[in-house]
Amino acid sequence: MTKDCAAIILAAGKGTRMKSNTPKVLHSLCNKPMLWHVIKSINPLSREQVVVVGHQAEKVKEFLNKKFDETKVMTALQEEQLGTGHAVLKAKEAISDVVKDVLIVMGDTPLLLTEELKNLLNFHRDSMNACTVLTAKLDNPSGYGRIVRNSNGEINEIIEDKEASKEIKEVKEINTGIYCFRKDMLFSMLEKLSPSEVTGEYYLTDLIKLLNSEKEKVGAKELNDFSSVLGINDRKDLVEAQKILQKRINEFHMENGVTVIEPENTMIDPEVSIDSDTIVYPGTYLENGTVVGANCILGPDTKISDSYLKDNVKVIRSSVNESVLESYVQVGPYAQIRPYSKLMDEVKIGDFVEVKNSLIGEKSKASHLSYIGDATIGKEVNIGAGTVVVNYDGKNKYETIIKDGAFIGCNSSLIAPVKINEGAFVAAGSTITDDVEQESLAIARQRQVNKKGWRKQK
Ligand code: UD1
Ligand code: MG
Repeated sequence: MTKDCAAIILAAGKGTRMKSNTPKVLHSLCNKPMLWHVIKSINPLSREQVVVVGHQAEKVKEFLNKKFDETKVMTALQEEQLGTGHAVLKAKEAISDVVKDVLIVMGDTPLLLTEELKNLLNFHRDSMNACTVLTAKLDNPSGYGRIVRNSNGEINEIIEDKEASKEIKEVKEINTGIYCFRKDMLFSMLEKLSPSEVTGEYYLTDLIKLLNSEKEKVGAKELNDFSSVLGINDRKDLVEAQKILQKRINEFHMENGVTVIEPENTMIDPEVSIDSDTIVYPGTYLENGTVVGANCILGPDTKISDSYLKDNVKVIRSSVNESVLESYVQVGPYAQIRPYSKLMDEVKIGDFVEVKNSLIGEKSKASHLSYIGDATIGKEVNIGAGTVVVNYDGKNKYETIIKDGAFIGCNSSLIAPVKINEGAFVAAGSTITDDVEQESLAIARQRQVNKKGWRKQK
């Protein structure tokens, strides 16, 4: 099916109602731009996609080049926005010769379901149509192009809302803006299109009438789930669409055995994976390609991005970014795991502890109030409350090494570069500037002086 189908995505429009410096199709829902969602939905059905760009074309292109393979997702520039028909024609050159059918979708309909598009494509091919329009029946069709059918129920033409008579405005069946065309027909007919007398734009929708007049077969297929073609025009639409998408994603995970306590307060990105029996509490965001194992407990109020969590991990009221948490790791409440950290099995990071670019070995603990940066810590190390790794001298960052079984007393400062060897013990309140030998005790603080009767003398 994908071998000879291409897709054209119209995304040249301005999106005035977003009132934004960001092009409309780059506004995100569930942490991914609208255009990303559109491409993902048509990708399984088409060998190549052409995005027609215009308004802020450079920004849109930059995003596409970063995220997709250029040979599969191409762009075509429509410098002046002279209508949807004009826009589609701009994509002609980019499409390969082997392509027979072209799916056309809008860049601002991020909820498209692959299943709906597949039904359209199958119907189009089975009916051997030159064009098939995806339609929907709406209680309030205003703003949309209306589907005009003849007495046999065949589609005659599409009349734009702006040009519709009172009678036509009564029609409830609308054009979703999604079509499937036979490629040769599409481009030869577009050459014959003339501009609208009302707006001066070249309407793609006028092709229906043209194809009919040439006795080509045109069909219409009604959509099952209207939410899948919801178009985004302003920020309210964006939030509405995000809610629908969020519900879909959360339901997908629930069907796979994940408990999502409050789906309406849980945000999981589209590409996140979670194994069964994990529980997600409210206020939790799981972002980008995060992978979560089985039996984990996440949240409440937790953000985990680009990270890999094995089984039985617990993260409470904390953030984890670009890090790996092995089995039975516990993080939080109120901890921050910053990029390039790896916490081995059964590591415990407690409240108000920050970890950055560090490896922490099995069963080691930093239970309260610590900073651990650029450190390599062995197994079963105890980091006492208030321990600070002093990794930065204002210019450079240095490494700290703490070997297996070492014990760092509370409120110690470890001035990097420094190495605490196996089983060494650092007394509480020490400022450690020199390496500590294995099994030794290091004390680096002033002795306490008690001045008898001092208070009275004053
Ligand atoms: C279009 C359809 C209408 C349909 C509706 C569904 C036409 C003439 N009308 O109307 O029948 O019911 O979508 O939402 O097609 N675009 C370009 N270049 C242009 C003009 C538009 O790339 O020159 C892009 C826009 O960025 C947008 C899409 O095409 O993504 C649709 O354009 P828009 O102006 O929103 O068309 P509608 O009036 O909504
Ligand atoms: Mg529109």
